[in-house]
Amino acid sequence: MKNHREYLMEDKQEAVRLDLKTDAATVERQARWAGIKPGMRVADIGCGAGKTTFHLNKLVQPGGQAVGLDIAEQRIEYARTHYSDESIEYLMADVRQPLEDLGQFDFIWIRFVLEYYLKGSFEIVENVARSLKPGGIMCLIDLDCNCMRHFGLPDRLSRATEGVMEWLEKKLNFDPYVGVKLYSFLYDLGFDEIDVSLSAHNMFYGSLKDNEKLISMSKAEIGGRNSGYPFEEYDGNFDEFLEEVKIFFNDARVFYYTPLIACRGIKP
Ligand SMILES: C[S@@+](CC[C@H](N)C(=O)[O-])C[C@H]1O[C@@H](n2cnc3c(N)ncnc32)[C@H](O)[C@@H]1O
Repeated sequence: MKNHREYLMEDKQEAVRLDLKTDAATVERQARWAGIKPGMRVADIGCGAGKTTFHLNKLVQPGGQAVGLDIAEQRIEYARTHYSDESIEYLMADVRQPLEDLGQFDFIWIRFVLEYYLKGSFEIVENVARSLKPGGIMCLIDLDCNCMRHFGLPDRLSRATEGVMEWLEKKLNFDPYVGVKLYSFLYDLGFDEIDVSLSAHNMFYGSLKDNEKLISMSKAEIGGRNSGYPFEEYDGNFDEFLEEVKIFFNDARVFYYTPLIACRGIKP
């Protein structure tokens, strides 16, 4: 990915999608587990809509500060408009580039960003780790087997889903399995006191609530369309695929989730 236009989920409504799908209580639970504390200076790498930054900032008060970084002007503008606070700063930055100008942090959070870099995810963590103080905490959170734990998919939809995920790996540098690699990133960088947590992300089943349907459908629609995958399983290609996805998410027999891996460690 050379710039944000190549971000798989790029869309004029992406900031709104991220806002809707981000659960504040989950963010706070994950950050507390990782060791966030009042007074810390926090960096939120790939902050999207700014909702995560806002809740991380809440947890470092009193006395703390949060900096949200994103490559996309659209997301930074949305974050400034919707999730501002006097102790929050939002900056446009490509986190593959040197970040020394931003100063040093006590806590660095990278959630749902590394999956976009099958090649380059370790280098991002290595780069960002230079901005972490010795004794500071790095928290990496991402998915494993992304889009692969839907039970009961019709055969054709199952083949199309597998096809899309393989295509994303080969053509768009997307990593559906990055979660399983996070521990090795902190290990290879010599971090201490590494801890790992495994949980279910978006475990939806039965008659889905409106927001669960929206989260599920928008991911399939934007990711599927932007992938450029030809959807040859369907005579009507992408549109027919999307119709079948809709039927699947409207069936009360639906059950799916994605394994979510969180990994934290302390910089020596
Ligand atoms: C799926 S969103 C995750 C948002 C947020 N971290 C969360 O947990 O909900 C990924 C975000 O990372 C940003 N991003 C991707 N590559 C980036 C890069 N090289 N530098 C900065 N931001 C990047 C995208 O623009 C997008 O807003």
